[in-house]
Amino acid sequence: MKVLTKQEMDRLLDLAEEARNHAYSPYSHYSVGAALLTADGQVYQGCNIENAGFTPTICAERTAFFKAIYDGHRAFRAVAVIATGEEMGFPCGVCRQVMAEFCDKDFLIITANGDRTKVDVSTFEQLLPHSFGPKDLNV
Ligand code: THU
Repeated sequence: MKVLTKQEMDRLLDLAEEARNHAYSPYSHYSVGAALLTADGQVYQGCNIENAGFTPTICAERTAFFKAIYDGHRAFRAVAVIATGEEMGFPCGVCRQVMAEFCDKDFLIITANGDRTKVDVSTFEQLLPHSFGPKDLNV
């Protein structure tokens, strides 16, 4: 496992914080930014994009993943996520399932609350144990 330095985590959080400015969240007023680090060191930013139909809403994490996957990336090291408010926002279940498709057990999820006074670092295995993924379909 290639561990991230404190500087690398801070930089990812900076980019997640910047990404949060791009959020389209007129319904929840809960803006989220994400910064996804690829295995080869590139960073993809994402924000949540809401919809009047509610169901089409996409989370910041998936926006970042899908941008990177479109560009051909298939391996990732970490994602930083910054939400709004006093508490940290952990990735929702749908986003965790998207991670299960592309991330190893030691993929890191760095979360912070709105003003970054609270930060948590978890592995993917901690957030989604016993995940269902490509291995279950022998891929
Ligand atoms: N949201 C995210 O962007 N990431 C998460 O992991 C949790 C939820 C967004 C979706 C929606 O726009 C808003 O937060 C409220 O659910």
